[in-house]
Amino acid sequence: MNAKVHELLNQQINKEFYSAYLYLDFANYFEEAGLDGFANWYKIQAQEERDHALLFYQYLQNENRKVTLEAIAKPDKVFTCHMDVLQAGLEHEKYVTSLIHDIYGAAYEVRDFRTMQFLDWFVKEQGEEETNANDLITKLELFGSDPKSLYMLNQELAARVYTAPSLVL
Ligand code: FEO
Repeated sequence: MNAKVHELLNQQINKEFYSAYLYLDFANYFEEAGLDGFANWYKIQAQEERDHALLFYQYLQNENRKVTLEAIAKPDKVFTCHMDVLQAGLEHEKYVTSLIHDIYGAAYEVRDFRTMQFLDWFVKEQGEEETNANDLITKLELFGSDPKSLYMLNQELAARVYTAPSLVL
């Protein structure tokens, strides 16, 4: 495996664990705000991010490449309203998409077709994650200013359940 591709894949383990940590912090915000459905939604998001981290980890293991685990940064965002959190989520997903594309680009340059095939799932997943983040913003824009509607939206988000990733390595 090309050294740059290896380095980026290894870094992505850390980025995905950070994402899990960030979303757990979002869940924290909503628990404090009394919106347990929103908190549930972000806790499940955090579980998905941990899954992503483990997929990168497993891919490197399967390829007999060294895995180096780094420190996970502290989530340091401060929010003044619910919408801030959702916007930060969308921005973060766009950032993660750019990271996945960077790894894909590096793999493409060195004709690392196996890594490109592995990343295909993540390219699609990022599309879904951005859509989900956008949908949440739209719903909060529509219903967030009315307490009864916010209560209903919170109930809807409480129904989200965890499903294991469709990618198995
Ligand atoms: Fe692992 Fe939300 O991207």
